[in-house]
Amino acid sequence: MTASLYPVADFEYKHDNALSMEEYKVLYQSSINHPNEFWGEQGLRLDWMKPYTKVKNTSFKKDNVSVKWFEDGTLNVSSNCIDRHLPTRAKDTAIIWEGDSPGVDKRVSYQELHDEVCKLANGLKKLGVKKGDRVIIYMPMVPQAAYAMLACARIGAVHSVVFAGFSPNAIADRIIDCGASVVITADVNKRGGKPLPLKENVEEALEREDVNCIQHTVVFNNGAPINPLANTQVWWHDLVSNCAMTCEPEEMNAEDPLFVLYTSGSTGKPKGLVHTSGGYLVWASMTHEKIFNYKPGEVYWCAADVGWITGHTYIVYGPLANGATTVMFEGVPTYPDERRIGQIIDKHQISILYTAPTAIRALMCKGDLAAQDSTRDSLRLLGTVGEPINPEAWQWYYEKVGEKKCQIVDTWWQTETGGAMITPLAGTTDLKPGSATLPFFGVQPALVDSDGNELEGEAEGNLIIKDSWPGQARSIHGDHERYGQTYFSAYDNVYFTGDGCKRDADGYYWITGRVDDVLNVSGHRLGTAEIESSLVAHEKVAEAAVVGYPHDIKGQGIYVYLTPISGTEITPELTKSVRDWVRHDLSPIATPDMIQWSPGLPKTRSGKIMRRILRKVAANEHDQLGDISTLADPSVVDNIIENRLNK
Ligand code: WTA
Repeated sequence: MTASLYPVADFEYKHDNALSMEEYKVLYQSSINHPNEFWGEQGLRLDWMKPYTKVKNTSFKKDNVSVKWFEDGTLNVSSNCIDRHLPTRAKDTAIIWEGDSPGVDKRVSYQELHDEVCKLANGLKKLGVKKGDRVIIYMPMVPQAAYAMLACARIGAVHSVVFAGFSPNAIADRIIDCGASVVITADVNKRGGKPLPLKENVEEALEREDVNCIQHTVVFNNGAPINPLANTQVWWHDLVSNCAMTCEPEEMNAEDPLFVLYTSGSTGKPKGLVHTSGGYLVWASMTHEKIFNYKPGEVYWCAADVGWITGHTYIVYGPLANGATTVMFEGVPTYPDERRIGQIIDKHQISILYTAPTAIRALMCKGDLAAQDSTRDSLRLLGTVGEPINPEAWQWYYEKVGEKKCQIVDTWWQTETGGAMITPLAGTTDLKPGSATLPFFGVQPALVDSDGNELEGEAEGNLIIKDSWPGQARSIHGDHERYGQTYFSAYDNVYFTGDGCKRDADGYYWITGRVDDVLNVSGHRLGTAEIESSLVAHEKVAEAAVVGYPHDIKGQGIYVYLTPISGTEITPELTKSVRDWVRHDLSPIATPDMIQWSPGLPKTRSGKIMRRILRKVAANEHDQLGDISTLADPSVVDNIIENRLNK
């Protein structure tokens, strides 16, 4: 593999206090050889109520996966993110909020953050929320989303943030699965000048017959007219109006859950990954500091959404644990137009920008517009996350956004890993566009073939992680067995990531994408099984198969093959109704890009759909179908090729 190399030494911005490559290697080895000593020391970056005496206690045996870190220590995550900074940073800005409309913004100091979080924490207590109870947060990108997360953490409630782009059904599924008693939401979510109804979506979710655990809905007024609420609903401002601005933080065990976050897998419904308090926060704090080489006083912007793990770890928990100034952006990078990102960077003098390749590609397709009317002089580092970055997008980001001054840290990780795992460290790691480079401290990646044999040196295979790290998810909510099955049964005693990966002669890792039936659409994780089960619930659909295909901006697009119920007339209106159905049933992010009707789907004689064929046709590579002799009816394939939509 030949790739261009961008040595750190060549960048104009010098990260003076960064580790050298030699220092990284020594420290990395000690993190692997002596995890108890290494993490025992790192754990001290947090304030503990009762210090831990044990550090690592983990087992990856599939029938009994057990991951515990700092297990006899106690702490409170919200006081680590807020209270301990107050003696020195009460007036410093914790959150800079940039509204959807340019010109609307707000700065929240650490003192204000403390007061707002405590008021809401007291409000939640008034509603009867206790340690261990689950709270759904379905919010726009406003500071109140962070207050809500931290208020839960303060009283020991377990939050489950549901991305504000999800539909009522998806909310209902998550409410039921985690047995939540309270929902925190807003009247509207403003995105690109359009208000989207959040409260209405929650109401529709709660109307579903099988949802009966929710006792209260807290509604933040995000600018819509204030109307009277139903009995079980309360305006946020009313709830907190008489609440005290102090709230004693609950003492939590390091292994008490902090949050449940749902993500898609290759089968079944989304699973609620459980992250706990101590190890997760150590991981969030350390990765945020070391990868970005964050220095106090800098303004840092992770342009993700709090509905995803990236928002949890790198908008809220990591930066706030480090006393950083973190930016929250309510809108979209292309509104009012592509210049917005640069303007926000200049306005708030942002030093670090962390975003997804799909956002970069969306800006890129308007040429240089994104670089107009801004200098971006304050920037010293760029980051990406969520999907492989193609070299063109990397170059554009490097040249047009970073003006060739800034390194790009390409961070590979997952909802399950809690924080970044394979990543350059700013000022330390030489870069190769498209490679996530080398493992973070404590991470032991390896490549295996399909039989589980470990591959050495330059190789390509499935990516596994050989031992536990503190930020790892501990379980799937309510289904620990599925946790073992999903991640620890493909290969013995290791964590299987679901990603394919190459390693080059320098030991650099290059993620090639998912090897399972998980799609990555605009950096959003979607399971083909989830979309298929939504499709077959449409009254005219008999059978559905969903595959991904290469898409210039989204990375992957959603290609759907459908067989109709017999006697159905295929019309453009029908196709539209299927598309709208999925949008409404799951989420607009799951909207099919292409829908092809077919009298049948290619199946083996045992009735299994041959997705390999469908993927090739969707990618317009039908000349590379390979062996189709095992098909029950090969003529189905001719029809599918003839009527293919991606030409
Ligand atoms: C993909 C997002 C290549 C990968 C934090 C992984 C990446 C999935 C990268 C997890 C990267 C994430 N390069 N691929 N830098 N980062 N991925 O759970 O396929 O939403 O398995 O977590 O995104 O997506 P998730």
